Amino acid sequence: MLILGIETSCDETSAAVVEETGDAARPWAIRSNVIASQAEIHREWGGVVPELASRQHVRDICGVVDQAMSDAAVTWADLGAIAVTQGPGLVGSLLVGVSFAKAAASAAGLPLVGVHHLAGHIESVALQNGELPLPAVILVVSGGHTSLYLVNTPGSYELLSRTRDDAAGEAYDKVAKMLGLGYPGGPIVDRLAKQGNDTAIRWPGTRLTHADRNAPELKGDLDFSFSGLKTAVLRHVTLRREQGTPLTEQEIADICASFQRVVVKTLVDRTFKAAQLYGAKSVGVAGGVSANSRLRADLKASGDARELPTFMPDLILSTDNAAMIAAAGLRKFRAGVTSPMDMNADPSLPLVAFRS
Ligand code: KG4
Ligand code: ZN
Repeated sequence: MLILGIETSCDETSAAVVEETGDAARPWAIRSNVIASQAEIHREWGGVVPELASRQHVRDICGVVDQAMSDAAVTWADLGAIAVTQGPGLVGSLLVGVSFAKAAASAAGLPLVGVHHLAGHIESVALQNGELPLPAVILVVSGGHTSLYLVNTPGSYELLSRTRDDAAGEAYDKVAKMLGLGYPGGPIVDRLAKQGNDTAIRWPGTRLTHADRNAPELKGDLDFSFSGLKTAVLRHVTLRREQGTPLTEQEIADICASFQRVVVKTLVDRTFKAAQLYGAKSVGVAGGVSANSRLRADLKASGDARELPTFMPDLILSTDNAAMIAAAGLRKFRAGVTSPMDMNADPSLPLVAFRS
């Protein structure tokens, strides 16, 4: 069976065709994955402007779907279902994908499958690597989310922890903005950090020991927090600028490297702590920040040291794309779940019940 996936939750318009292979160990193969990025449009504003994003999705969606269908050499009659990101995300952006998918499903007489954006990120790991040894602990780390999930059985996603404030990618983007480096900041900070001394500034990581008042269902000790680190970087940069001379290239590289050391260490430590607590047989990382070179290297090294297999998607499947939505949609469809035609975009769609 072939499924068309559509993703428009933020600033990428993407469509993909994914095929079921019949191989239980490696269930999906990507036939096409077309991504139209709006980064150039939002760069001028230093972040995603929701109204500009939804308008651009409207312009791009038909061409992107056409391209995905022709790259995969399929027609509507070859498809078995249409999967689309239902939420979370920007409501105007989500609505473009959801409306398109509903119209296409209705015109082609195909079942519709609404997919949670983070289920897509989680499934990107299996889409790339085949089914993971379970239970698996998956770190989803992007511009909007930093969460740990436990996957006990294929398709079940149990939230273990999340960030109390900024997402890791958001902290990267904000630090890049403070340093005048451009948008999106993650890849730029990642690149500059390679030339910096990562212990030039010894910012502390955050450790949380109490449950979050807003989420008493979670124990909270595996939660993340990046706003303190972000503020520490801002204080450092402000104090340094008050001295009157501009920051040198080396100082900027040192700030990037020192900031990145703390973020990556926090992410890696908490992921492996969760793996140990829940007896995981594998660890995965997904989402835009999983493209980070140091995070990838340190996760692999920590996994090797603990003899725990560690999986990540290729860079193209790390950031937002429709192939992961198609894969998560196929998983849901095979479990017998489809969505009604009155399904609506939901900007704060919940993924799973909390673990107590
Ligand atoms: O998953 P994604 O494409 O969109 C969301 O769902 O948020 O993630 C985008 C985020 C941005 O904050 C971007 O700065 C970050 O991923 N990112 C990185 C890297 N590449 C992208 N962060 C750190 N290092 C990178 N190499
Ligand atoms: Zn994402």
